Amino acid sequence: RGKWRIMENEETEPHVLIFPFPAQGHVNSMLKLAELLSLSGLRITFLNIHRIHHKLTLHTNFQSRFSRFPNFQFQTITDGLPLENRPIGNFSDLINSLKSITKPLLKEMLLSGELGPTPTCIILDGLFNFIFDVDAHPNIPVFSFRTISACSFSAYSFVPKLIEDGQLPIEGEEDMDRIINGVVGMENVLRCRDLPSFCRLEDPFDPRLQYGVTQTIQSFKSHALIFNTFEDLEGPILSCLRSRCSNIYAIGPLHAHLKTKLSSEISPTASESNNGLWEVDRSCLAWLDAQPPKSVIYVSFGSVVVIDDDQLREFWHGLVNSGKRFLWVLRPNSVAGKDGVPAELEEETKERGYIVGWAPQEEVLAHKAIGAFLTHSGWNSTLESIVAGVPMICWPQFADQQTNSRYVSEIWKIGLDMKDVCNRETVAKMVNDVMENRKNELMGSVIEIAKLAITSVEEGGSSYCDLERMIKDIRLLCQ
Ligand code: UDX
Repeated sequence: RGKWRIMENEETEPHVLIFPFPAQGHVNSMLKLAELLSLSGLRITFLNIHRIHHKLTLHTNFQSRFSRFPNFQFQTITDGLPLENRPIGNFSDLINSLKSITKPLLKEMLLSGELGPTPTCIILDGLFNFIFDVDAHPNIPVFSFRTISACSFSAYSFVPKLIEDGQLPIEGEEDMDRIINGVVGMENVLRCRDLPSFCRLEDPFDPRLQYGVTQTIQSFKSHALIFNTFEDLEGPILSCLRSRCSNIYAIGPLHAHLKTKLSSEISPTASESNNGLWEVDRSCLAWLDAQPPKSVIYVSFGSVVVIDDDQLREFWHGLVNSGKRFLWVLRPNSVAGKDGVPAELEEETKERGYIVGWAPQEEVLAHKAIGAFLTHSGWNSTLESIVAGVPMICWPQFADQQTNSRYVSEIWKIGLDMKDVCNRETVAKMVNDVMENRKNELMGSVIEIAKLAITSVEEGGSSYCDLERMIKDIRLLCQ
């Protein structure tokens, strides 16, 4: 009888399966979503690729962090890649392997009950909608979570129309400043250079562009779409998207949302989290403590961007010539063909700079010594900078980043866009502009938006209400 009761509860208790794309920026934000849902009492299974999960478990606080959620379990699955291809290797190898090996395995795991009771719904990373066999599990609704901004998602979704209208392909460098029309809600905002980077490919049917577009179009067919954004930031774009998909939840910034919930429901210190796939070097916090307020520019290009030796030197000279202090994240293997920072740069940096392999970014951005962020405009970094009230210099590299940086500089007016330029003069000038000449104006706007971001995740705020609505909708699926 006892057993029967448990079975009954399991069937009526919502169970959410969450599966992120195996990359830092994706796992990072989807784990935060998982924690938020778990805090609301939903049973969560977080499915991770083996090698990603292994890296997460190496963090010292991993056990304590997740043991506080009674209904939270991790499960792992292979990406099918041979060991020598890891960490990610070639992108198309990864996708092919996920399709041919991981997809049928996921189907089997679901059918055999290996992942627990049949999920009420699956929250899938919108970058790999293909991984889930909808025909095999018609009763499991798919919620598609895009880790990118609503503006870049929207730009992706209009690519087929831009091709049809003859606005793509881009005709070389001299065509880059042409204004793009036809992306609804973004009229007169985007130039060719602000479209997702894959639009720069000569062949608009190149698989790399088509992949992003297909996954975006596929996301519209899911039961619901979830964005890590908030109404006061991307309201007009979200309205346009809602006319094409009625079920959209805008519940970000997730890191701020989680922090607010954790500090009100568990304890203020419990909100410290590290979702990084690299070991954090916390020594930079002590270095920051010794710097004057708002005197340091933080430099990081996220988890994927690789720069070459020339770019490294242009940035380094630009930072040194700016006369400002800097904290620079140079991940292992993030400079092509180099094992580490050239010894002479490391030596000469000591006067005004500090270099680490991986920083506690949220804490760094919140530090009083930070005055600006030189970023690649990844969406997580952009949101983290906004919440911390730190103006940006944007050096976007790929995918959504080109569109994000346009919005940062032209729409939200909280930073400068260095797009497609990398020379020491520009770096030095922009660092001085953002930290001195235009400091008041940029800082004023970003602090305003930071307040709106925080309000959105507090009780009654737009993201708070959308998350509550989403949880209610998930519970209703069980009845
Ligand atoms: C990429 C895309 O750029 C991004 O837009 C998409 O949403 C996810 O995939 P990534 O290039 O890694 O992500 O950038 P970003 O989204 O900014 O994420 C990087 C994350 O790593 C941030 O959460 C940041 O806090 C964290 N980080 C970065 C650290 O914790 N320490 C560091 O030293 C650098």
